[in-house]
Amino acid sequence: MKLWHMAAVALGLTVLAPIAQAAPKAAQKSAPIEQCIYCHGVDGIAPDAEVPHLAGQNERYLLNQMMAFRAGKRPHKEMRYMSRHMSEDEIAAIAAYYASLPR
Ligand code: HEC
Repeated sequence: MKLWHMAAVALGLTVLAPIAQAAPKAAQKSAPIEQCIYCHGVDGIAPDAEVPHLAGQNERYLLNQMMAFRAGKRPHKEMRYMSRHMSEDEIAAIAAYYASLPR
């Protein structure tokens, strides 16, 4: 599990490196979590029945889901877009953040 994750991270960094170099400012400036609120709620409790709650979910699970959206393994138009606009570090930080929220 851990090895697989490290491999995925390494691969992601290699693939994304040219893109990150092209627009480092834009990527850093956007605070992606602000865009999650619209669908997943300020406190990670989604107001819409079709959107999953993220608050109190397992950190590892959240991370894996975002990586799956990003890789296209879990298909979903919006989440694919969102996950591709987050760096590996942002995904890890966001997973930890939502996992820390009370349900
Ligand atoms: C346009 C609405 C929208 C936005 C914006 C959005 N999401 Fe989602 N998200 C969804 C929907 C809908 C799903 C359920 C996808 C499915 O049906 O497979 C989802 C699923 C997820 C999941 C998987 C949850 C689970 O229980 O499996 C995670 C994690 C997640 N989103 C994180 C985020 C993060 C982090 C952001 C901000 C960077 C974000 N989302 C922004 C709509 C959104």
